[in-house]
Amino acid sequence: MRSVVVTSLGLVTLAGFLAPPVHAAPVESAAEVKRPVAEGYGGAVATVDLDASTAALSVLRQGGNAMDAAVAGAAALGVTEPYSAGLAGGGFIVYYDARKRKVTTIDGRETAPRAMTSTAFEGIPFDEAVTSGLSVGVPGSVAQWDTALRRYGTMPLRQALRPAIEIAEKGFVVDQTFHDQTQQNAGRFADFTSTASLYLPGGQPPPVGSVFRNPDLARTYRELGIRGPAWLYGGALGREIVATVKKPPVRQGATRNVRTGLMEVSDLRAYRALERPPTKVTYKGLDVYGMAPPSSGGSTVGEALKILEALPKVGLHEYLEASRLAFADRNAYVGDPAYVDVPLDQLLSDGFAKERACLIGPRAMAHPAAPGSPDGSYAPCPSATPGASVPEEKKEGPETTHLVVTDRWGDVAAYNITIEQTGGSGIVVPGRGILLNNELTDFTFGPAPGDPNLPAPGKRPRSSMAPTIVLKDGRPLLAVGSPGGSTIITTVLQILVNRLDFGMSLPEAVAAPRASQRNTAATQAEPAFTERYGAELTALGHTLTDVPGPPAGEIGAATGLEFLRDGRVQAVAEPARRGGGSALVVTPRR
Ligand code: GLY
Repeated sequence: MRSVVVTSLGLVTLAGFLAPPVHAAPVESAAEVKRPVAEGYGGAVATVDLDASTAALSVLRQGGNAMDAAVAGAAALGVTEPYSAGLAGGGFIVYYDARKRKVTTIDGRETAPRAMTSTAFEGIPFDEAVTSGLSVGVPGSVAQWDTALRRYGTMPLRQALRPAIEIAEKGFVVDQTFHDQTQQNAGRFADFTSTASLYLPGGQPPPVGSVFRNPDLARTYRELGIRGPAWLYGGALGREIVATVKKPPVRQGATRNVRTGLMEVSDLRAYRALERPPTKVTYKGLDVYGMAPPSSGGSTVGEALKILEALPKVGLHEYLEASRLAFADRNAYVGDPAYVDVPLDQLLSDGFAKERACLIGPRAMAHPAAPGSPDGSYAPCPSATPGASVPEEKKEGPETTHLVVTDRWGDVAAYNITIEQTGGSGIVVPGRGILLNNELTDFTFGPAPGDPNLPAPGKRPRSSMAPTIVLKDGRPLLAVGSPGGSTIITTVLQILVNRLDFGMSLPEAVAAPRASQRNTAATQAEPAFTERYGAELTALGHTLTDVPGPPAGEIGAATGLEFLRDGRVQAVAEPARRGGGSALVVTPRR
């Protein structure tokens, strides 16, 4: 979303650049040009942000592989997209290893501290939990980067962090999205001395066109590279994080009730990133791989695709209904598999899909859809009894970000990164330039007996992140993912349906207007979707409603790759949502 100021790694150096943190003169743009589609050879990347894409591309150009570039891109997003990504957050990587011809995943989801209880969030207003130490999960990103690089990369962490350090030191140009996100958070940022001094210099969001530097973050990344992950997971940085969680730096006079957190250094010491098998479904002869629990991304996208495959035709009505049913099952069955028995194989089975598909008729089904019984025993067509009322879905924002990378060897990374809410907990660790996540608000607050996503000590909150890789005959065809809270799932599903069923190209599939049905009474829809399809869907009994902001009217901000003939790859980012993203290739097609 922003244009770059820096580098020796393929980014542009601004001679004599000695700008103060903000309010400097606008800086001219980079060698790489921000565009949403790029096609070529030798590797490719797409992120929401030109600086981050350029950082990842520079690593590919140095000979790094897709995992090296994914980590470099994620670290760069921690600088330029700090309200969605950062080392105090978490994420999920779905990775195709071309040499082994195998898809794997790395789970860097945050965990609840050991002192967490199932009732810790009960009765707490959601907005109060959002801006608190209580909601801060044990960060997973650094362990994830380390595990990912050791197992699949070629570079040490120190090297992968270099482009991000350069951007943090030299700065990036503030764009409208960064400015607006800061503005939307200004009230709570102002309540923490560390956050206000970084993100509200002079008491205001940095103006569009000014240069924003984060020297504290540059130092933090540099020291992390030297000292390694143990510096966070039990060392001095970890102690600073724990101190901040337990005593957030609330400004004098602030009236906000800031609850303190439960994290201890021992929680950091106990943290592990986990390599997990991906979810896999076949859809129309293709193999679709996604993120397994604790994310509900792979299971929900996968189940909806299987339901669609069991139907005689696939249109927008069927897309909405399949998504509604898959969300009913997600909410009933998916949580951290270390704590709940998730019937994953059954949720993704043909038998269950056929039973669920039977419930889809010519008109929208009654709300709410009841969860099915993924028990291995399936009736040809059970009757459609509406479910008991479901609690109102909690507020979901456009948080999170997604990047895709491929390299010259054909490795592919689809990587969702998050600090949960846009702006996370709103609390910057003093002197470190990093925002703490508020990922624990992804737990069900309760009371909700039997809910698979209630908090527990050490548990990972259920996620909706859905980085997805599609193989055709064992070779990559597509990679796709998006931000957007629970709408991530429907965005990925809709892009796949647009591409595989409706005959759109990947750029068209990404740009097309979106709607999101998550077992709610009304389906959220972008204005262009309602304009084009509202009448026909309303006639079938669907109710469409506007997408609440900010930013109002937008669902997701996807990135994707398509592997074309002759070794060509097409990298795709949003053309407009969130200000548009950046797609780059190592060697553009002539
Ligand atoms: N925090 C967004 C997600 O994990 O789905």
